[in-house]
Amino acid sequence: MRIAAISDIHSNHSALEAAADELNKYKPDLVAFLGDYVSDCPYPQKTLKLLREITDFYPSKVIIGNREQYFIDYRKSPNGWKFGTRSGSLLYTYENLTDEDIDYFASLPFSTDIDSEYGKIILCHGSPDDCRLVIKPESEELDRTMKNADCKMILCGHSHTSFVDERYGKIMVNSGSMGVPVSTTETEFAIIDIEKQSAKAEIVRVPYNVKEIISEFVPSGLFDKAATWGKTIMANIITGDKYNQRCVHRVIQLANERKSYFDDEKLWEQAAQELGIDYIIREALAHV
Ligand SMILES: [Fe+2]
Repeated sequence: MRIAAISDIHSNHSALEAAADELNKYKPDLVAFLGDYVSDCPYPQKTLKLLREITDFYPSKVIIGNREQYFIDYRKSPNGWKFGTRSGSLLYTYENLTDEDIDYFASLPFSTDIDSEYGKIILCHGSPDDCRLVIKPESEELDRTMKNADCKMILCGHSHTSFVDERYGKIMVNSGSMGVPVSTTETEFAIIDIEKQSAKAEIVRVPYNVKEIISEFVPSGLFDKAATWGKTIMANIITGDKYNQRCVHRVIQLANERKSYFDDEKLWEQAAQELGIDYIIREALAHV
């Protein structure tokens, strides 16, 4: 049995398209979609269309990510998001979703499992108990989750950091992020091969059309609506480096120093300036 695990597409339809082509070579028996399909990149409908095509073609399991949960919650209580701030990115995506899309998100399970010859495989976004738990390699969260897991394998995402770990007689595969990876300009997903009682997992990386997705930020309106947050996502995609995380850390520092608040856009602008994000974007947009 061959499983492809895909997580954290974040509306990067250019990456998903390249990955879909690559899936044709791997011919998986099952595709596990691990959440965070939309938000952060332009035109979420393009991603949802591709997602529907892939799930129509391959046997698939689809679970919810924290981003989908945000949109379900916002429909119930639509307040607090504003264009020109960090939340403007979410509002842009929300306004480009239909009621049917959000009904679909609401129908998705928090986690699910597969009975394989190797044993039980749990599919989750963060961890089997917590959709928003960030699990990084060699972390305390990883050890605790693996120790407590009632299965032979966990497939997860959310941290955008891909890895394969084995301990306590179990395997964890974090398939990283298809759309906004943090250590590569390629797109990434995981392939798991199960044969009788043995399992083998690898992270696959594939080049994709970065220029295409970057070129859509301005005409889609997302560039202005998502303000600095959107720029950090672009810088991440362009460089394959952790500009989004770095900016978040710097904003937290600045907010503490100035007794301000995390969503103060001025702090985001300063952090982005210190990190040279405007220059990275200007250079990239000049070549698309
Ligand atoms: Fe997530």
